[in-house]
Amino acid sequence: METIHNLDVKGKKVLVRVDYNVPFEDDVIVDDTRIKCSLETINYLIDGGAKVIIMSHLGRVKSDEDKKKYSLNNVAKYLSKLVKCEVFFIPQTRGEILESAIDMMEEGTIVMMENTRFEDFPRKLESSCDEALSKYWASLADIFVFDAFGAAHRMHSSTYGVSKFLPSYAGFLISKEVAVMNKLLVRNKTIVMGGAKVDDKIPVIKNLIKSTNFLLLGGGICFTFLKAKGYNVGQSLVSEECMDFVCKVLDKYDDKVILPIDIVTDKGIFLIDEIPSDATGYDIGPKTIKKYVEVLLDSKLILWNGPLGKYEDKEYENGTKKIMKVLHSAAIPTVLVGGDIVAASHKYNLDFYYVSTGGGSTLEYLAGNKFHTLEKLKGFNK
Ligand code: 3PG
Repeated sequence: METIHNLDVKGKKVLVRVDYNVPFEDDVIVDDTRIKCSLETINYLIDGGAKVIIMSHLGRVKSDEDKKKYSLNNVAKYLSKLVKCEVFFIPQTRGEILESAIDMMEEGTIVMMENTRFEDFPRKLESSCDEALSKYWASLADIFVFDAFGAAHRMHSSTYGVSKFLPSYAGFLISKEVAVMNKLLVRNKTIVMGGAKVDDKIPVIKNLIKSTNFLLLGGGICFTFLKAKGYNVGQSLVSEECMDFVCKVLDKYDDKVILPIDIVTDKGIFLIDEIPSDATGYDIGPKTIKKYVEVLLDSKLILWNGPLGKYEDKEYENGTKKIMKVLHSAAIPTVLVGGDIVAASHKYNLDFYYVSTGGGSTLEYLAGNKFHTLEKLKGFNK
């Protein structure tokens, strides 16, 4: 994929779509990963003398209240501390103030517009990929740089819409994400999968299982698999709707799917054939950890999506924490996918080979879905 590398951007107005949909607590950004990951592209453009116009969504805007809650003002202030130049925040998604701020830009400066999803209330113009809005945003710039991997699965005005009307390029983050995800799509790997909802994982399992050596399961999702195998899982989370799919996977790939042999429940630790009917499972047990570590230490590439237990509670964090620490010290290339497992890595202060900035987008990419915005970018798939 062609990135902005070698592109002459001097004096050009470059519209950069990033994903600054970052979590907040009381107006304070609690995870700035997505902002930091956008800096390589932004700094490169600034150094090249571009006039950088930044756009992003934040939250989902369905009311005037949401507009107060989801302004990008604080994000702009945060960004201005990380880049070399001032960030001029314009509290508009369209209009004269925005247009004249862009007209007056000098080379190597940044204008950031208000949350693109303000265009979703009262009319859903951003999310419906409104043609006029897409054209208007495109008219503000000479070049479009798409670097919002987290929003790459959305066909919105600020993503796909703009890419139809401007020469469009991948930013550095997009090209890194796509390279890592493509590797995961084709290479042999071990998958560690946890989290609560099986239905979220089905498309990924379907698409990746063939190129997977082992699928190690934990978290809430392992109980549907254990139940499908005939175990009594007590009160643990089971998805009856996914039972059919789970049975098919177990039938066809029994040698690849590795399930816990013991479980930490609210009534103590039990082997899987001894779980009491009134117990609820919240973590994988110590014997399982040992078994999983053996498999993982033999792996060359690991994809990890979803925690292996309710790691937020100290008594149920061992599965996630211990396996994470082992993988970290063994330095096996491990790709973390999904907000919860990334949050766990922050909690334990552990860096990994690759941490995807996407949530839903990464899962959709790994499920083999086509991303129309990426297909619009010059050189995509080459
Ligand atoms: C995300 O956080 O997953 C992305 O920013 C996409 O957000 P959305 O699901 O609201 O489109």
